[in-house]
Amino acid sequence: MTKPAPPTRRGFLAAAAIAPLIVSDAAAQSPSDLSLPKGFRWGTATSAYQIEGAVTADGRGPSIWDTFCREPGKIRDGSNGDVSADHYHRYKEDVALMKALGAQTYRFSIAWPRVFPGGRGTLNPAGLAFYDRLVDELLAQGIEPWATLYHWDLPQALQDKGGWERRDTALDFADYAGAVADKLGDRVKHFFTLNEMASFIEHGYGIGIFAPGLKLPLDRLALARHHAVLAHGLGVQAIRARGRAGTKVGPAENLTVALPAFEIPSHIQAAETATRELNAPYLTVMMEGRYTDAYLKELGADAPKFPDGDLKIIASPVDYVGINVYIPGPYVLSSEAGPGYQVLKLPKSYPHMASTWLTLAPEVLYWAPRHVARLWKPSEIYISENGASSKDKFSKDGQIYDLDRVMYLRNCLTHLQRATSEGVPVRGYFLWSLLDNFEWADGYATRFGLIHVDFATQRRTLKLSAAFYKEVMARNVVA
Ligand code: FCB
Repeated sequence: MTKPAPPTRRGFLAAAAIAPLIVSDAAAQSPSDLSLPKGFRWGTATSAYQIEGAVTADGRGPSIWDTFCREPGKIRDGSNGDVSADHYHRYKEDVALMKALGAQTYRFSIAWPRVFPGGRGTLNPAGLAFYDRLVDELLAQGIEPWATLYHWDLPQALQDKGGWERRDTALDFADYAGAVADKLGDRVKHFFTLNEMASFIEHGYGIGIFAPGLKLPLDRLALARHHAVLAHGLGVQAIRARGRAGTKVGPAENLTVALPAFEIPSHIQAAETATRELNAPYLTVMMEGRYTDAYLKELGADAPKFPDGDLKIIASPVDYVGINVYIPGPYVLSSEAGPGYQVLKLPKSYPHMASTWLTLAPEVLYWAPRHVARLWKPSEIYISENGASSKDKFSKDGQIYDLDRVMYLRNCLTHLQRATSEGVPVRGYFLWSLLDNFEWADGYATRFGLIHVDFATQRRTLKLSAAFYKEVMARNVVA
């Protein structure tokens, strides 16, 4: 065995020590053909508040996460995104790392409070200019920019007026989306509207563990859900109206994915039926233009009231469906009774990754796109996020051997490959995440990066998983 190089000061160089593991040996065959389809796009994903820092730079206004982080007890380690990975100042180094990995695409988010510090009204050119620089740098390195318009950092000024409970927030979002398309649409050809509506609404307005930390009664919660999907639809229309011809747009939703307890036709059917119902307020209404009968029945008098025409806007045709896929929804059995499925509880001993919420079921990467394809027949599906936390530690040789992350990714990709080999139209995959970052209510305690960030020195170090992913991307095969 070659003796690993001693750790060097710069993470990028330290990565060179992993290089012997990155041999692209064309002669070496994988045990079986786990190739992804030709033209499959590989990349990584991040979001603005989680990596940028620089929260007061160039006229950025406060977001609900700036406020939330300052409330005692809300963030596990009492931290915030003030500095984080300082990507705002180090974006060139980070793009160089993407390039070194061989990534073809990059999914990042634009901070609404940089563009409109007050949420609406006067645009802040200095804030938008950061994304100009980032996009130019990506394109210069041959990396395709995929921009998410909303990854949870609502301008605080809009929350002060009622946030997602207020219909006008959806209209403000559309204005903001249009302004971004005007400015970046000559270079950004792919947009995601809102990231994980089911997360930021249920966690932020339902159970209060995310910003803005509210626990709304069901009628107000159902209305907030409605405004989020309305914002998505209006955002799609704004991108169509103000982006350049050929610009593509879709959501990045974390649908709840029901899994068959085991694979026999009746349980598989039950899982599909359950998936449609469990996403009734989000992806189902976006794809079908109506709330399911069961959802409306469950809400009863708490069902949202809205103008005619909203459902048509919500279901504005999209170019692709982005799905963030990490964990299993419920495992189900088929059932003669009720909705056609029986939901099973996970036993206490069910395994999870470093984050306790990250229960392990790699087959969700097969079932999620398969259910979406069968239920709604989109022409293209992208895995807009998938990844794992790990308790990363430096070894004596200066490397991070994050074998649990590699195991998770390899198994997830194997199941994704199973889907594509059956013709499910998944066209690309964005690994969460490029860098360790501010993981919302978990603060910095939870690391998701392929690249380790020392938050005290901002030193970047590639982990073993980066070497793994480099290999996958280079060969277009599960390695
Ligand atoms: C997703 C979020 C993303 C990150 C990962 C771990 O739900 O979209 O910002 O927190 O989980």
